Amino acid sequence: RKPENHILVIFGASGDLTHRKLIPAIFDLYIKDTLPEKFAILGVGRTSFTDEEFRKRMGEGIETFASMVKASSNKAEKLKSFVKKLYYTSLNTKNAEDYNGFKSTLLNLDKETGTGENFIFYLATPPSMYTVIPENLAKQGLNSENTGFKRLIVEKPFGYDLESAQKLNNHLLKDYKEDQIYRIDHYLGKETVQNLLVTRFSNGIFEPLWNRNYVSHVEITSAESIGVGSRGGYYEGSGALRDMLQNHLLLLASLVSMEPPAIIDSNSIRNEIVKVLQSIRPIKEDEVDKHVIRGQYMPSTIKGVKVKGYREETGVNPESRTETYVAMKFFIDNMRWAGVPFFIRTGKMLPTRVTEVVIHFKQTPHHLFAGNTAITNNQNQLVIRIQPDEGLLLKFGMKVPGSGFNVQNVNMDFHYADLSEKELPSAYERLLHDCMLGDSTLYSRGDAVEAAWKFIKPIQDAWEKDRNISVHGYPAGTWGPDIADNLFEDPHLSWRYPCKNLANDGN
Ligand code: BG6
Repeated sequence: RKPENHILVIFGASGDLTHRKLIPAIFDLYIKDTLPEKFAILGVGRTSFTDEEFRKRMGEGIETFASMVKASSNKAEKLKSFVKKLYYTSLNTKNAEDYNGFKSTLLNLDKETGTGENFIFYLATPPSMYTVIPENLAKQGLNSENTGFKRLIVEKPFGYDLESAQKLNNHLLKDYKEDQIYRIDHYLGKETVQNLLVTRFSNGIFEPLWNRNYVSHVEITSAESIGVGSRGGYYEGSGALRDMLQNHLLLLASLVSMEPPAIIDSNSIRNEIVKVLQSIRPIKEDEVDKHVIRGQYMPSTIKGVKVKGYREETGVNPESRTETYVAMKFFIDNMRWAGVPFFIRTGKMLPTRVTEVVIHFKQTPHHLFAGNTAITNNQNQLVIRIQPDEGLLLKFGMKVPGSGFNVQNVNMDFHYADLSEKELPSAYERLLHDCMLGDSTLYSRGDAVEAAWKFIKPIQDAWEKDRNISVHGYPAGTWGPDIADNLFEDPHLSWRYPCKNLANDGN
């Protein structure tokens, strides 16, 4: 389906996100012929570029990052016709008076291209601008949908804590309606994240088991093998709890645990997400230490190469207590999940890059093959691999051929790559296209963002107030602090380790 004609205005167009992710994703949409007939992109930034300079820079980004570049036969020609849709204007976004001139530029471009004053404003700027830009646009009447639609895409982080997220929501809602605001969580744009709903709600064999009667616990991991790189400055003020857990991981947990929506539409799905987020049992401030483990990567040696610790990274305080790893256990107090622990963890500089959800099913009520050690360890697991090597793995027990009744664990493994030769669309491609179509299903609603911050609040408060709560060091290239295994009260249980530790010495 093609969206209505419009102009996409990107604030922060000289930044990294625009040239690495946004423009390549829009190019991919162009190649797939899913952009409207009349369409333009207006890049806005403080740096001054001519249209030609901007086009050249974006063209380079496309060459490197767009997935359809490789696939497209007449690449050079396509690239040339696409970049003609790109324009640039410089603006000091802090200066309210300058928006008058910006409005004229935008309306002129609109007349030239015939886009009917339909505008999407994408805020790819530092968060401090998330209130300033929308307010100044509104002062120019650019929030009014009397002539054409006006949509606002807000990048993460949406707030820094509960209070700032509430403030930001209230501020935006003064000038814009909720259905004009598109809060991005790029995890929702991932094909395999959306597939969680299909896996659950379209399979008669899974949904009946998806509850406290059959599930012993749920485990969600999002591991990265890279460190903070050049983002030390940003990360110091963020840490894994804010950067990954409050948004991406809680979102994954909601999709895994939510009730089926009445219908597949934006509000029905988002209502269920909010309901489940509101049902997570709050962790008491004085119990944070028991339920949440934070860690920080230390220097180590991986395959003979020395690797920096977090405190040695550029832009990081040498005595930093910012966590690069966080693991926690929580419960969802509702009919479906009462008593089932959810374990979630995320970290940088772990042995591999993997995001997965593991549903651990309860064992059979009676161990018929007792005495056989294999069977007592046999636990059915459904591993939903979000990335990379997207797919689904079901683990179950089978008889070892031969005498007796020995049981072994076997795998049934589905890889997305076997389904289609096409690359999965990037998260930004899907999300941008949805916003162009006016579909906010895969964007976060204001109340969901606040519910997630509300859950995180006592953890943030405890860490801020109590310096006795440890930040556990872990050697880069390992699966995080060993103490995270203690979150599992049952000594037979631990996290799933998709691969071995890489670091060969501790310090
Ligand atoms: C971002 C975080 O939101 O997600 C980054 O700010 C993190 O720190 C990234 O690296 C992970 O995204 P993905 O899609 O690579 O899992």
